[in-house]
Amino acid sequence: MLGRMRIVHLADLHLPGSPNKTLHGVSPYANLAAAVAAIRKQVPAPDLVVLGGDLLEDGEHSSYQAVLDLFKDLQVPVHAVLGNHDSLAGFRKAAQRGPEFPGYYSFDLKSVHFVMLYSACAGKEFGRLEEKQLLWLNEDLHRNSQKQVLVFLHHPPFDTGVGWLDKLKLANADGFWEIIPPYSRNILGVFAAHLHLQHTCLHRGVMAATCPAVSFQFSGAADSPRAALSDEPPGFNLIDLAGGSLALRTVRFCQPKVPAEAQAAEAHRAETHHPGRPPADTAPQA
Ligand SMILES: [Fe+2]
Repeated sequence: MLGRMRIVHLADLHLPGSPNKTLHGVSPYANLAAAVAAIRKQVPAPDLVVLGGDLLEDGEHSSYQAVLDLFKDLQVPVHAVLGNHDSLAGFRKAAQRGPEFPGYYSFDLKSVHFVMLYSACAGKEFGRLEEKQLLWLNEDLHRNSQKQVLVFLHHPPFDTGVGWLDKLKLANADGFWEIIPPYSRNILGVFAAHLHLQHTCLHRGVMAATCPAVSFQFSGAADSPRAALSDEPPGFNLIDLAGGSLALRTVRFCQPKVPAEAQAAEAHRAETHHPGRPPADTAPQA
């Protein structure tokens, strides 16, 4: 019988280059600090934190070190998958990984096996798992078929019913699910992010979920137009393992108020880029 384990899954931090910068009415750095404070209050304390990707708003120009430093005080292992806004090269540097690190890997914790996939597709909002990675995944699941397994990736390999967001999912989701059947009994769940909304489903017999964003949220309404924002609070998921069962709970935390001067600066920036309409370069992207 396996012992208990608590995993925090948080994603879509979208940290900008400057800690003072706001993004679509929220302060990503303030939200992340509030998330870490909320994690610290959880009882029992987590055994693992998994960052689900889009850690930075612009992976080329921001630092991953600031992200990793924020989690040091929690004194739990922190692992990450990368999203479409991230930079694999930048992450390699901060995580002290060499150039050979492909962005995907696996590890064991308390006899549970964790698979971390790399689904970012250069220059695209949708995701893809390259053939080489799918072969690796098949071999890794085969090698660990006697263990309970949790799979993490940024792009969901399933639909949610929100039309415009479903176009941004894992493009070759079928290739992923073709691998799963021999191992579906020991895969406890597939956990994604990217949609900036919480969603849980059973897909091809496997529990699958996305976590809400730490930054801004998208609307989960089926007919919502592209990039429709929601005023739901930010949050993260708690995944509790006990014996052979898994419980998933979403924790919402208060969104720190954005100072009036920062809101005014963002409004001014938007207006001067494209007067009279929302600027394309500041439209929310998943
Ligand atoms: Fe995102």
